[in-house]
Amino acid sequence: MELTGLIGFAIALALTALLAFPLAGPLRSHPAPFYAVAIAASLAYAWAIAAGVDLSGVRWLTVVMQKGYLAVLLLAVVMFTGVLDEGSPARRRLQPIRGELSILSFLLVLGHVATYLPPYLPRLGLLLASRTNVALSLLVALVLVALFAVLTLTSLRAVRRRMNPRAWRALQRGSYLMVALLALHVALALGRSAGSSALAATSLATYLVAIAAYAMLRVRKALRSRARESGRGTAGA
Ligand code: HEM
Repeated sequence: MELTGLIGFAIALALTALLAFPLAGPLRSHPAPFYAVAIAASLAYAWAIAAGVDLSGVRWLTVVMQKGYLAVLLLAVVMFTGVLDEGSPARRRLQPIRGELSILSFLLVLGHVATYLPPYLPRLGLLLASRTNVALSLLVALVLVALFAVLTLTSLRAVRRRMNPRAWRALQRGSYLMVALLALHVALALGRSAGSSALAATSLATYLVAIAAYAMLRVRKALRSRARESGRGTAGA
């Protein structure tokens, strides 16, 4: 599974790079076909799992879709673009398609949700009332999906255009809560298997290091812009 994990990760990384760079123009000008393909991929994967289709010949697909590597890598591009310096070439290139990449990430994570949620659904009430770790993990996952859905819906250009810009910006701050919930979800979901599976332990460590790096870069950016603003205030005084 470790080799499959690496192959799946490499495929997800290649697809992310393809979408973020050579396909950025078409994604920006005609996002609908990209969204349609992402929805179809998630639905087809969820159907294959529900129907018991044998996917052992394409185990990398499990990593790309079920483990959510592609969705999470796209989300990582969206997050890290936000902490790049305003004038940097990478930021200028990626900023115009952040919304589209985030929508694609949500549509693709539905393959992960549709695989893991159905087994819990019939005992959802009982589980949530049990106040166990599994219940907490499920609760966090449900809030995570709901928040991701709201942020995605408001990233659609047609919806964003209708919203008050200040309200839109305030709502988008929910993305920081989403990152915190993602860290908690991954820690709860992989924490149990990390002791016995090298892949789970490596994945958990990678997610937590990436999220900690993001948090540090975000704080650094906030401190820098505050220093710039107070510098401007002093200069103007
Ligand atoms: C109700 C919705 C969800 C459920 C029931 C759920 C369930 C799970 C479960 C059971 C695992 C552990 C899988 C394993 O042991 O291999 C897991 C892992 C994970 N989940 Fe979720 N999840 C949900 C939503 C989400 C969302 C919305 C995201 C992203 C925004 C997400 C991101 C992840 C990631 C990154 C992992 C680690 C995958 C790995 O490297 O193995 N999940 N989830």
